[in-house]
Amino acid sequence: MTTRAVAVAIALFVAKVSAAPDLGDPVKVDDLVGLSITIGPDGRGLPPGRGTAIDGVDIYVEKCASCHGVRGQGRTGPALAGGAGTLAGKNPVRTVGSYWPHATTLFDYIRRAMPYDRPMSLTNEQVYQLTAYVLWLNGIVGRDEVVDARSLPEVKMPNRAGFVNAWDARDRD
Ligand code: HEC
Repeated sequence: MTTRAVAVAIALFVAKVSAAPDLGDPVKVDDLVGLSITIGPDGRGLPPGRGTAIDGVDIYVEKCASCHGVRGQGRTGPALAGGAGTLAGKNPVRTVGSYWPHATTLFDYIRRAMPYDRPMSLTNEQVYQLTAYVLWLNGIVGRDEVVDARSLPEVKMPNRAGFVNAWDARDRD
């Protein structure tokens, strides 16, 4: 490289690093609203829509059963049902039914993460139906029981009292 070429290369490099970084456009609040899909334990943020386990059978078989089994017994994906009473034993089986403390988490999780190979592809109505179906597999709701923004936070999960607050536990030591 000639001296002149080196000088030009250095000048270009300096010009590039001293230029303002290209960070894109400022985010607008309206754009963030669509990304904020977290549902709290109290159900805040649950969208309109409804579903029952019966409504959810077909879509579960079509989009979930290949990995989780028709009865939620697990295949390549984890079991979604069963495991009641095993948590304190040598081989705990943690499922939605045996482990999860809040039913609202199920809506949030299915909506944002499932199907594993096509996350965020379900409508809210389908997610309510699938939530009802998985709860029904665990014997937590009846097959015709409506799951919606009002009823889901009221569902009492079997392991609701099985968690301790880490901060309280620390204070006890
Ligand atoms: C291609 C396979 C696949 C399909 C299809 C699939 N899942 Fe999953 N699912 C998984 C895997 C793998 C995990 C574990 C993910 C992890 O732990 O990060 C999982 C985790 C879950 C969990 C959390 C289980 C737990 O206790 O942690 C739920 C609930 C769930 N899936 C529901 C569904 C529903 C409802 C559908 C249909 C819409 C579905 N899944 C479709 C593979 C799949």
